[in-house]
This record gives sequence, C-alpha cells and structure tokens, in this order.
Amino acid sequence: MNDLFTPLQLKDARLRNRIAVPPMCQYSADDGLANDWHQAHYATLARGGSSVVIVEATAVSPEGRITPKCLGIWNDEQASELRKIASSIKAAGAIPGIQIAHAGRKASANIPWEGDDHIPATDPRAWETIAPSPLSYGGDLSRVPREMTVEDIKRVQADFVAAAKRALDAGFEWLELHFAHGYLAQSFFSPHSNKRTDEYGGSFENRSRFSRETLSAIREIWPENFPLTARFGVLEYDGNDEQTLAESIELVKNWREDGLDMLSVSVGFTIPETKIPWGPAFLGPIAKRVREEAGIPVSSAWGFGTPQLADQAIRDEQLDLVLIGRAHLANPHWPYHAAKTLGKDRPTWVLPAPYAHWLARYHDPEQG
Ligand SMILES: Cc1cc2nc3c(=O)[nH]c(=O)nc-3n(C[C@H](O)[C@H](O)[C@H](O)COP(=O)(O)O)c2cc1C
Repeated sequence: MNDLFTPLQLKDARLRNRIAVPPMCQYSADDGLANDWHQAHYATLARGGSSVVIVEATAVSPEGRITPKCLGIWNDEQASELRKIASSIKAAGAIPGIQIAHAGRKASANIPWEGDDHIPATDPRAWETIAPSPLSYGGDLSRVPREMTVEDIKRVQADFVAAAKRALDAGFEWLELHFAHGYLAQSFFSPHSNKRTDEYGGSFENRSRFSRETLSAIREIWPENFPLTARFGVLEYDGNDEQTLAESIELVKNWREDGLDMLSVSVGFTIPETKIPWGPAFLGPIAKRVREEAGIPVSSAWGFGTPQLADQAIRDEQLDLVLIGRAHLANPHWPYHAAKTLGKDRPTWVLPAPYAHWLARYHDPEQG
C-alpha cells in the first residue's frame, strides 16, 4: 500500500514522497519581478523536504495579475529571476514547478491585507479587466469586465504559450495551468460567468474550448517527459453539484486526451454565494471520484495539513499527491515533522545535512 512517503514517478519526474507545496501568492513583487523575498521563501520550502514546490500564480500578461504585487512571466527579466528560484528548488532535491495564470475578471485587486477588493477603476494602479462576458464576480470584486473578442482570446492563449516557453527555459520541470478559482479559464467553463453566444460559450463543448485550445497549444511546446498539470475547480457548491461534477469529469477526460498528466482538484470559486462544506480533507472523496472516473492522477489541498490526514488520503487512494499549503508556511520543514509523527525511521533524507545531521539524530522535538 502506498503511503505519504512512497516515491511517485510521473513522466520523468521522480517525486521523493507524496507531499507538494501548492502555489501560494506572496503578493510581494513589483512589476511582476521576483526578489529576495521569493528567493528565500522558495529555497526554504524546497529544503523542507517536499517532492514538488510549485511557484505561486505567475501572470502570463500584466492584465492577468490578480494584484499589482503578483509575479509575472511575460518578459525575459522576470524569467531570469525565476531561473534562480527553479535552480534553488532543484538544488534542494525538489522538482521545480510553476503555476501560470490569468486572473480574468478577478484581476486588478488589492492585496489581501489591503482589502482583497477591486482597485477602483479611476485609481492609477488599476487596469482594465477582461472576461468571457461583461459580468462582475460580485461582492468586493464588483468591477464589470470587458467582454473578450476572439482576438483577445487568441492573444491570451499565445501569452500562455509564451509563458510556458519562458518557464521551460528558466528551468522549471513541472507546469501547472491555473484553470481554477474563478480566474479566466474557470470563468470560460462556468455557465455562471460565461454567457457568450459564439463558439466559446453555450454548450459544454464551447465552454471547454478556451481551456482545451490553450492546453493543446502548450503541450506542443512543453516537453513530453515533463509533467503538465492543471488546477481546476470541479464543482462550485452552488446547489448544482452533481451536474457540474459530471461535466467537470468529462472535461478532465478531454484534457487527459489533450496531454494533461495530473489534475489538482479544487473548488470553482466562480460566484461568491456558495455553500462550501469547509472541513478537514473535505475534497478527498471528490478527488477520488475524479481520479477514478477521469482516469488521471490527482492532487488536492484544503485542510490535509496534519500528517495523519495527508497519509490517510494516499492510503485511501483519494490522492496521488497531497498539497500542503498553510501548514508549510507555519513550518517549512513540515515533511520532516510528518515523517517523525508517522514513525518513519531516521528521515535524514527530508532535510539537507546541515539540519538533518542534528535534527534526525540528536534532537527530540518533545524535549525542546
Ligand atoms: C497565501 C496563499 C496564497 C495562495 N495562492 C494561490 C495561488 O497562487 N494559486 C492557487 O492555485 N492557489 C493559491 N492558494 C490556495 C493554496 O494553494 C491552497 O489550496 C490552500 O492554501 C489550501 O490548502 P491548505 O489547507 O493546505 O492551506 C493560496 C493560498 C494561500 C494561503
């Protein structure tokens, strides 16, 4: 039986365990450029022992940023700072991953600790938002986006491809497409946010077109031996869950045929009014269903952050890879902590020697 510390092979990627750091925005960049904060943050996380460290949502264009402080990968200067991050993650024995993103109608927002709401359109820091239809998300994100033309769609898709090429050149070996959380691709798929009447709206096939075309174009340039993954909200908790989940699983099957290697199962977050049953590991059974019915390896997050819950999700074959987010912020050496808690023998592999030598042999956390 597999457990949290069983290695996993995905294409040429050899994962040293089933723990990954999911993308987590740091809202600490200027002009999309990574700086000392990001370098230290990602190197520390990789040294903690997880198998994959996925760099936060990194915008494919300036307008695709969630906030003015988000990372970007639309120019070479940005890629060259990201190269240092990929290299330090790899040097620590983890696989360097990156999530590329376009925030659609949720873009042009204030950072979370300054409100998390839309920057007023008249503010010089604001920019025009674009989306499949001129409908606002609502709540604090009330700005009405401009409806994308087909030319806009083709340009954003080309931006995704260019971003994937830059990520590859910068040394990333794991690419995640942000197709979740109410951002652009998710909002093309959801009938809540897509009311188009052209070939990008309406039927299941039409609402799938934006993501399928984007994924296929990226697969052409992203090497076959490196994992290509996507994060996607498979349901909205809007009262229509069975139908949404069935459609989502169909879409994931299509993506698998288009070349997707793993799905990060998440929530849609396309509308503010939802009844999400927050609780420990609540997405586990949903992820298992996607894994079985779509026939694709899956990861998931949201409350798997105790060693027992994470380990159980692998043992129960709900997940192939467990995403540990906030618990990694609280303790960047979470995998070491998990190995100790689960009674793994001398987890010296988890930390680099300058820590492992002392912690694995000579330090008992119970004794302080
Ligand atoms: C600070 C922060 C930033 C986040 N940024 C992203 C992001 O860039 N992309 C993404 O897909 N999810 C993002 N998320 C969601 C996390 O990837 C993860 O799903 C979430 O924290 C739940 O997992 P956890 O319970 O292990 O923390 C973010 C979460 C946090 C706490």
